[in-house]
Amino acid sequence: MVGLGPKPPPSRKGTGHLSDIPKDLKKEIENLERLFTVDQTKLKAITKHFVSELDKGLSVEGGSIPMNPTWVMSFPDGYETGTFLALDMGGTNLRVCEITLTDQKSEFDIIQSKYRMPEELKVGQSEELWDYIADCVNQFIETHHDDVSKLDKLPLGFTFSYPATQNYIDEGILQRWTKGFDIAGVEGKNVVPMFEAALAAKGTPIKLAALINDTTGTLIASAYTDTKMKIGCIFGTGCNAAYMENAGSIPKLAHMNLPADMPMAINCEWGAFDNEHKVLPRTPYDIIIDNDSPRPGQQAFEKMIAGLYLGELLRLIMVDLHDNHETHIFANQDISKLRRAYTLDSSFLSAIEEDPWENLQETSELFNEKLGINPTHPELCLVRRAAELIGTRAARLSACGVAAISIKKDYKTCHVGADGSVFNKYPHFKERGAQALKEILDWPDKKDPKEEDPIEILAAEDGSGVGAALIAALTLKRVQAGNLSGILHPENFV
Ligand code: BGC
Repeated sequence: MVGLGPKPPPSRKGTGHLSDIPKDLKKEIENLERLFTVDQTKLKAITKHFVSELDKGLSVEGGSIPMNPTWVMSFPDGYETGTFLALDMGGTNLRVCEITLTDQKSEFDIIQSKYRMPEELKVGQSEELWDYIADCVNQFIETHHDDVSKLDKLPLGFTFSYPATQNYIDEGILQRWTKGFDIAGVEGKNVVPMFEAALAAKGTPIKLAALINDTTGTLIASAYTDTKMKIGCIFGTGCNAAYMENAGSIPKLAHMNLPADMPMAINCEWGAFDNEHKVLPRTPYDIIIDNDSPRPGQQAFEKMIAGLYLGELLRLIMVDLHDNHETHIFANQDISKLRRAYTLDSSFLSAIEEDPWENLQETSELFNEKLGINPTHPELCLVRRAAELIGTRAARLSACGVAAISIKKDYKTCHVGADGSVFNKYPHFKERGAQALKEILDWPDKKDPKEEDPIEILAAEDGSGVGAALIAALTLKRVQAGNLSGILHPENFV
């Protein structure tokens, strides 16, 4: 930025001077706008279909959205206590935490370490994955405890953020890998024994108390400090939500004869919404992403929204406009780096959308450094508009899921706790999502801009750390109280 003086305030949120853009590029921009814009009517149609698909997922026959019962059967009251380990196996990082829920209402202490999840492990062998995870847990315990041999077995909440069937809270039968993972021999199996075997081999003193999804953790952790929280969402590498259902409204659990008003957190796994491609406005770029992914036909909704795919969408657009269209953007430049799949992540789009300069100086530098490309100014304007369209579509489609749960549960007002890199870091994601919710639910204009929306999506508490510890605590409490459904195998009930 040398020589440019202080940054001017961003003068506008849109693209540079569209009037400077040659006609052919303008035509491409209009085409992208047509492909990526989801208007109010479409948002409402998607939401309507979403509501019926949520119901279908709870039915005995089931549907695309798994709607997994989690055996998390209450909200915390703020008086949970104890020390717990939490392991978060996310899409990008591994995190190990030790959380102490203190005697003070809703207060906790936390120590944590983060470990990178090596790319090769995501598509490698099952044993290597569990061994690496056990190593990280072991390393964490050895760093934070003096004499591990004297340590009592610590209860652990394992945040395993993939669709998993749970007949009990301490099991997770992986339905399918998502977020680009592709490790043979795990789908269809309970991951807990695999994880426990790796821990046992290292003599790690841990007892798994609960396997949880990051969305359920987010819901519980957020409700710990805010009783208006009704939905937990993740908008990160993947995307998904959880909410509290009544057992009586879950036909696929009818055989368990649970009291109708017994709460049961449902991990929706809404990334799988519209796998049949009935309503989502997929573009040719979405179709390529799906076809080239390890699980074609799966996670249709997630692939249009989640952080893992936003950079890839932009990359595919740019390669297409270079190769196949009359405009030939980046003509006569070496685009070999851009040709590499998944070379751009969502932070690339964030940086473009955040570029405050009228001449898109920072975007230009980014292209130079990362891709070895020198775009012209009109090309930069096109790229900026493409990023805006991708980011806006992601936020607006996400709102359909939140609206669908709210309509299904008849929540007229509530808080929604959201976490994940896209929610926390992607510029304007929150505002765009809030605007879409307003359009779907027909809220009147606010009198005062500071007023809360009836349904407000807020930054969540740490779900996969504190949430996991709370769920472990709630599970132990349930055991002590003798409410063992979803904990003990029925043959062990006396
Ligand atoms: C997984 C979910 C998870 C979400 C956010 C999705 O790919 O299937 O279980 O909650 O990502 O991490």
